[in-house]
Amino acid sequence: MSKFYITTPIYYVNSDPHIGHAYTNIIADCMARFRRIKGDEVYFLTGTDEHGEKIKKVAESSGEDVSEFVAKYAQNFKDLWGKLNISYDFFIRTTQTFHKEVVSKIITIIADKGDIYKEKYKGYYCIPCESFWTESQINSVRDAKDTIQKNKISNGVKEHGYSCPDCKREVKILEEDNYFLRLSKYQDWLIEHLKNNPDFVKPKTRYNEVLSFLEKNKLEDLCISRPKKRLSWGVDFPLDNNYVVYVWFDALINYLSGVGFGDDKKKFDSFWPADIHYMAKDIIRHHAIYWSIMLKAAGLELPKVIFAHGWWKFEGEKISKSRGNIVNPLDLIKVIGVDSLRYFLLREVPVGLDGHFSWGAIVNRINSDLANDLGNLVYRTLNMTEKYLKGEAKPLSRKVAHEFLEPLDFLKSNYSEHMEKGDFSLALELVFKFINVINKYIEDTKPWKLYKEKKIDEIKNFLYCLLEGIRIIAIYIYPFMPQTCESIMRQLGIEKSTVSLSDAQWAGKKDFVIKKESPLFPRIDVD
Ligand code: MSP
Repeated sequence: MSKFYITTPIYYVNSDPHIGHAYTNIIADCMARFRRIKGDEVYFLTGTDEHGEKIKKVAESSGEDVSEFVAKYAQNFKDLWGKLNISYDFFIRTTQTFHKEVVSKIITIIADKGDIYKEKYKGYYCIPCESFWTESQINSVRDAKDTIQKNKISNGVKEHGYSCPDCKREVKILEEDNYFLRLSKYQDWLIEHLKNNPDFVKPKTRYNEVLSFLEKNKLEDLCISRPKKRLSWGVDFPLDNNYVVYVWFDALINYLSGVGFGDDKKKFDSFWPADIHYMAKDIIRHHAIYWSIMLKAAGLELPKVIFAHGWWKFEGEKISKSRGNIVNPLDLIKVIGVDSLRYFLLREVPVGLDGHFSWGAIVNRINSDLANDLGNLVYRTLNMTEKYLKGEAKPLSRKVAHEFLEPLDFLKSNYSEHMEKGDFSLALELVFKFINVINKYIEDTKPWKLYKEKKIDEIKNFLYCLLEGIRIIAIYIYPFMPQTCESIMRQLGIEKSTVSLSDAQWAGKKDFVIKKESPLFPRIDVD
């Protein structure tokens, strides 16, 4: 049995989860479920990133105790994952003691190797992102020659109107002693690693972006501490009591602490390195650069794949809390249901590209693919089985319909390849092609005529083919729509609870005694 370790980013707990967060976890869940039905032993990690000044400030402004505040939001994420059927194995919170101990341990290991040093820092600082920026990184410098030296530094912080490359908010100028990780030392090694491992960062556009960034820029060492006098909500810095750990350094280590580093060697050794870290493109550099170097400096193996998906946008803008254009997944589920939402997000765009969120696009997808094609196929097949055969399809021959041969073969030989690559929309496209082959087969065969002509044996064989085709489809859609798979199986009279890809073989079920329920996907009215 191969092991497969898959992660999502851990989300900030300063607001409720939105559709963008849901998207990453749905993708990761789809991959995790596919791997499980393929026979792998999967470990799926998600969680929450709970330190940093940004979170503390939001908690304080709401008048709540910080620990209670973060616990409440962590629970909101957990609740949403429950509703979306996210089959994670462990939920990590960075305020948990075992995680903090691992952060401490990693810093100590790296420091012992000489890759952490203390130095005076003077430069730009973005408070909301808690990130330091170099002059060259500041994107909206009004006057390129206006250097830090020209600004009068008062109390370490001065406003001057430059903005953060990440969040576009104003950066401050800051001067203080801090601890640094020697990123620069590992720059050439990382370039080599990327060149030797062309699948390390996916998709290719992001790989090229990371590589060319490393080739064109000199890496600055990373400031990994924050003085407690201005930032206290963090993991104690093990080398110096006056500091806490930079929130990103703390957060990235969740991928180790969440899989047993330091306290469950057997688990850690069997799952590390991670097979895939999923995230959106905004945090690719934190992972491909900081994280890779942190691991290398700590003497640990690098993850196999860092996969950056695109952004969901609304009216052209990235969906995010700071832009105030949030789409709440809970509201959507109430109207369209969980599996329709999962289907829409996984089918609408290839994983690496941006998606444009609109009510019209959702309604189209649901009505045409789910209600018309899949839902209708299942409903009318079960209806015919009830009407023509009193609910029991016991065929004389289990031969696959000639019309299914080629498309089914094509589906079988390509589905796993698409799924393994994370090309979920392509995999779904194949499944829905087969669904439509079956729909066409019904139209062409005209079973109502066979019934009129009392050709019952032919009807038995015909309906067996439809039911067997639907059973195989149910297995293939399981990673995308687990509830729908379960419902189809139940209606086909299959009680077995575990789904396995190896059961997607023709004539895997010899006959059917069906139990029809209401249609899987009611059409959505647009008004
Ligand atoms: N806490 C850090 C991650 C640390 S991981 C060691 C963080 N948190 S976050 O709450 O801002 O979540 C960012 C992630 O949420 C993105 O990488 C992506 O997975 C998801 N998304 C947030 N908005 C999104 C969209 N509009 N579209 C797609 N994904 C989005 O960064």
